[in-house]
Amino acid sequence: MRKPIIAGNWKMNKTAAEAEKLIDELKPLVKKSKPEVVVCVPYTDLAATKKAIEGSNIKLGAQNVAWADSGAFTGEISAEMLKEIGVEYVIIGHSERRTYFGETDESVNLRLHQALKCGLKPIVCVGETLFEREKKRTNKVLKRQVLEGFKDVTDFTDIVIAYEPVWAIGTGKTATAEDANKTIGYIRNLVKKTWGADTAKNLRIQYGGSMKPSNAKELMAMRNIDGGLIGGASLKAEDFAAIVNYKD
Ligand code: PGA
Repeated sequence: MRKPIIAGNWKMNKTAAEAEKLIDELKPLVKKSKPEVVVCVPYTDLAATKKAIEGSNIKLGAQNVAWADSGAFTGEISAEMLKEIGVEYVIIGHSERRTYFGETDESVNLRLHQALKCGLKPIVCVGETLFEREKKRTNKVLKRQVLEGFKDVTDFTDIVIAYEPVWAIGTGKTATAEDANKTIGYIRNLVKKTWGADTAKNLRIQYGGSMKPSNAKELMAMRNIDGGLIGGASLKAEDFAAIVNYKD
């Protein structure tokens, strides 16, 4: 059985003081959660968030990781730095990184290998743009992102994939649950063909893109959907908790 995982992606929101406040509000609301709960916070919030989540079931995530151990990479943060703070998860290849910061399948692959080497659990994002969707290229794009992004990966135990159609991120538009399930099914099948049935069966694949309290239950009811990567709705404790507690 795959344990569902609901992860908040705070993006570039919340100062350290605001992070502490949000976590304090969130803790009591998710303490009985059935899914795994993760918050992926800005680098400058990591230490304060780590302290704030102490003794709770909330896990700490970052939003990127450098592919090198250390050195002349201005602006980058290494896996060792993240590990020392107590980071467990790391988002890699988010579409905003791909769109605004030149992230490619190749750089995603490098970061992914580094995360795995250093014992961080990667949440790797894939997804098509509206243009690609309208041109009926969704599966082709996903195939490329998965085969190149996960090149030379042999062990998927600690990996989570987040399927995030770019047109659904922050737009209020959600893929229908059936649609998301079907596309995630395509990804799972591709993993099965490439890495084997066991890997595909155990791999957790989240949906992301305008997931909110009102649609979480329907999305989570889908056979292939094992969780969510939540942007906007993770910035309010009540909304994020309502998604985490979608079953209640
Ligand atoms: P959203 O963002 O929930 O605000 O659409 C999701 C994401 O980008 O991870």
